[in-house]
Amino acid sequence: MVNAGIKALEERFTAYTPAEGIAELREAVAEYLNTRYGSDVEPDEVLITVGTKGAAFLALSSYLKPGDEVIVPEPTYPVYSEASRFLGAKPRYVPLKWLGEEKGFRLDLEAIKSLISPRTKAITIINPHNPTGAVFSPQESEEIMNIARENNLVVVVDEIYDNFIYDDTPFKSFISFPDWRDYVVYSGGFSKTFSMTGWRVGYLVVRKEVARNLVKLAVNIWSCPPSFSQKAAITALRGDWRPVREMVEMFRRRRDTMVRELRKIPGFKVWKGRGAFYLFPNVKEVLEETGLTVEQFADKILTEKYVVVLPGTAFPDKAGSHYLRFTYAIDEERIREGAERILELVSDLLRK
Ligand SMILES: Cc1ncc(COP(=O)(O)O)c(C=O)c1O
Repeated sequence: MVNAGIKALEERFTAYTPAEGIAELREAVAEYLNTRYGSDVEPDEVLITVGTKGAAFLALSSYLKPGDEVIVPEPTYPVYSEASRFLGAKPRYVPLKWLGEEKGFRLDLEAIKSLISPRTKAITIINPHNPTGAVFSPQESEEIMNIARENNLVVVVDEIYDNFIYDDTPFKSFISFPDWRDYVVYSGGFSKTFSMTGWRVGYLVVRKEVARNLVKLAVNIWSCPPSFSQKAAITALRGDWRPVREMVEMFRRRRDTMVRELRKIPGFKVWKGRGAFYLFPNVKEVLEETGLTVEQFADKILTEKYVVVLPGTAFPDKAGSHYLRFTYAIDEERIREGAERILELVSDLLRK
């Protein structure tokens, strides 16, 4: 992949490409999705974007106008609520259900239904989920599709972590629904699966008429995704997937280590996430005992123990106020070291 990028640069494949991305990459993405999920995506339904974030922005801007409402299960990767707000729409947050250390997080389907109003245009779904590490079940995906069908809503789907699913957890991609064209705007990307964060390539899959309009928007925002990155992305998708499988297996081991270590900390309720590379432990007991807010707690962990964790409220509002977000995109040695330091801090705090 790196070599493909270098080759593209050496061959001066450095000019603008079509705004929708080069044909071969659009074909490769369609082929990937169709092979993997049994879908029927055509290459001209695929837009190559500047990252999945770029895809999210395009997706939301194609459906939202000022005054619209978007249902956002919370916590959420913030781009969905923030882009909605930027477009003048209102995010309506629905907290995920926390079912405890054994069962983790689930979508609150009843709460989602109860928030639907004539202004509701879309529901955002990230699966596997950042920041909780949840993989929503096929039944949950079916239910969300039913809600969309019954209320004529768009499901704005982000499956950027679709290769990071552990323990054979069942997963149903939204692109595999036969009527996806009517209800789904689908995105994914290369940043996570191929560790290509800085190359800035993602994709958006949407029915043709919408795709054609979005190209006009894309050309006025970024002209095209980076040319040489697109070449590298083709090689990534069509090349050897063994390194990806090995990386995912390494992440699973790291997750297990992190769960084991964090469970030693008093007051931490740690659910073993099933996907992505995050854990979202519930630290309510520590907060109650110490009187700290989760932001103050995360600050103390950083300034007194030099370990970086995010307060759950970074995602992006109140649903995360009893949670910290950890990533296991670091090696096991540092995972153990970080957890030990937090254990020391919490033990000190609870003794006072
Ligand atoms: C759910 C989710 N979507 C999108 C992104 C951003 O992806 P990209 O680098 O493709 O813009 C991230 C990165 O953390 C993410 O967690």
